[in-house]
Amino acid sequence: MRKTIVAGNWKMNASKESVNSLIKGILSGMSDVSSDVIVCAPFPYLSQVESLIINSDLMLGAQNLNVNLKGAFTGEVSADMIKDFGAQHVIVGHSERRSLYGETSTVVAEKTKAAIDAGLTPLLCVGESLEERESGRTEAVVAEQLNAVISLLGIDAFDGIIIAYEPVWAIGTGLTASPEQAQSVHLFIRKLLADSSERVAQKTPILYGGSMNAGNAADLISCADIDGGLIGGAALKADDFLQICKAG
Ligand code: 13P
Repeated sequence: MRKTIVAGNWKMNASKESVNSLIKGILSGMSDVSSDVIVCAPFPYLSQVESLIINSDLMLGAQNLNVNLKGAFTGEVSADMIKDFGAQHVIVGHSERRSLYGETSTVVAEKTKAAIDAGLTPLLCVGESLEERESGRTEAVVAEQLNAVISLLGIDAFDGIIIAYEPVWAIGTGLTASPEQAQSVHLFIRKLLADSSERVAQKTPILYGGSMNAGNAADLISCADIDGGLIGGAALKADDFLQICKAG
């Protein structure tokens, strides 16, 4: 049985004050939560979150990493640095990084490798744009994004990977995929993994992301192949985020 995982992606939204109250708010409601809960903070706030979550069940993640271990890469952050601040997870392949920063599926696969090599668990994001969905290419796009990782790392690497299906048209738009639309892609992803390993397919968590909120989380998470959520906007309010965490 796969455990429900709820991860918050704060994106570029934080201040010392907001982080303090958000984390304290989440911690105050964690005793009723049975899901695994992760918050993915912007780099400058990893240390602050690390201090606030000591001795709690809340887990920490980053939102990006560089593929290199160290060296002359001005402005970049390595997997080891992320680990140094107590994070266990890192988002790779978010659609905002694919579209705004030109990250190809090959680069995303290399980042996935860098994360795993350092002992971090990647939250590997995949998903189609509206144009790709409307032209019937959803499955082809998601397959290409996943196959890039499978061909670089092999199927067994998915033992240490969390997948997040995030249709680009649902991110930050309020247009959530219906449970049927999401479940259908999640099942496709699981079958794609099963083509290489039934064991890995059954074990790998596949989260849904894209305008998930307190009102729609339970219906989505109750689908057979939806194992939790990757939450943007609703992860910035402790009460909303906790309600999603309790929906699992
Ligand atoms: P929203 O929940 O704001 O749509 O964002 C989803 C997302 O991109 C999480 O990574």
